[in-house]
Amino acid sequence: MSSLRLGIDQAYLKDTFDQLAEIGRDPDGRGYQRLAWTEAEREAHRWFRSKAVQLGFSTWTDHAGNSFADFTGGADPSIPALAIGSHLDTVPYGGAFDGGLGVVAALAAGKAIRESGLTLARPLRLAAFTDEEGPRFGTGLLGSKALAGALDMDLIRNARDSTNISLNSAMATSACDLESLPLVQQSLKRFAGYLELHIEQGPRLERSNTRTGAVTAVTGIRQISVYFHGKTNHAGTTPKPERKNALRAASETIVRFSDWVDQTDNLVANPGKILVHPNAANVVPGEAQIDWDMRSPDSALLDQAYAKLAEYAENAAASMSMQATHQLFHDVPPCPLFSPWIQITEQCAHELDLSITRLVSWAGHDAGVLGLVIPSAMIFVPSRDGISHAPEEFSDDAALVDGTQLLGETALSILLKEGPL
Ligand code: GLV
Ligand code: MN
Ligand code: MN
Repeated sequence: MSSLRLGIDQAYLKDTFDQLAEIGRDPDGRGYQRLAWTEAEREAHRWFRSKAVQLGFSTWTDHAGNSFADFTGGADPSIPALAIGSHLDTVPYGGAFDGGLGVVAALAAGKAIRESGLTLARPLRLAAFTDEEGPRFGTGLLGSKALAGALDMDLIRNARDSTNISLNSAMATSACDLESLPLVQQSLKRFAGYLELHIEQGPRLERSNTRTGAVTAVTGIRQISVYFHGKTNHAGTTPKPERKNALRAASETIVRFSDWVDQTDNLVANPGKILVHPNAANVVPGEAQIDWDMRSPDSALLDQAYAKLAEYAENAAASMSMQATHQLFHDVPPCPLFSPWIQITEQCAHELDLSITRLVSWAGHDAGVLGLVIPSAMIFVPSRDGISHAPEEFSDDAALVDGTQLLGETALSILLKEGPL
């Protein structure tokens, strides 16, 4: 154990957080627009790299646009590094803390580790991943999936945003080549493991008055488009029995499947996006698409839920003489995190006199992808009112400091440990 050797510079932490919070801020106060592969995300990565250079770290980027910053601390640079960090993109109209906190905390913890002058057994790497959120192209966790070698290149090649821009051309604006993504995995051997601080994004820590969380597992996620193929026709003249209203079948599926989910433990499912064609009040819609996000730490339950969703959709469509089809476009298996590092996190929290509890993450994280291929762990701090993916997302200064101290101490314990992790 490191026994509290680090002094986190709280003014640096706060100032750095405030600097990042200027990037991609909506001018009308509706949160943040640092969507993947936009100028705002690029600006955040440039800012991160320049902050890391100021701290004396050596920066590099990979073919997925992920940014890294290395400090050997006296360790042999050929030894795989411990990475700490998070992501810099946001959901549309998202908050300042999701992802941003983990990157800022990594800079502040990295500064403290460097200034401690301690000789490390392995190098430290600060990490800022791209396209973690995914709503623009349906390609969540792209940066960490590329590193883990877990990308489905067929889906990636076909990905387009709502304005029909292809992922390929959006990546080109960030000087990234989509066809080079499989090369990213070659650097995985340079990573010993990954540690991520994140806001909880739910209400459990706040409601139990607990200052920190040690994440035991990250939920599995499946995102599925369900398509209803009806018949476009006149809203007034089409005889009722002959109407094939795709929106109605989609609505019935939303209600019935959601009722089933409500009765099922250890599973959540969200109908989060709907597209209707031609989307006019006086036209019976011939096509409708609903995008679902379903989550569980239990893969078998995700299999069952996907089958149920397909069944409800097919039944709703058949009752109106139409067809339903579906496509899985984002699939992340549940990921147990590395138990020795969960124990180190708890031990460091005790030394720092921070209350800590174990919990499962129902949000997706880069640690939930990297944890499938390298040792990974996560620390949570409370979110006010449990709100996230919204402009009201907030964690107070005490949570920022608690989380950064715990991140720094846990990282240092791992960095000082000789031999196997
Ligand atoms: C990302 O924050 C997710 O949980 O979808
Ligand atoms: Mn996040
Ligand atoms: Mn998020």
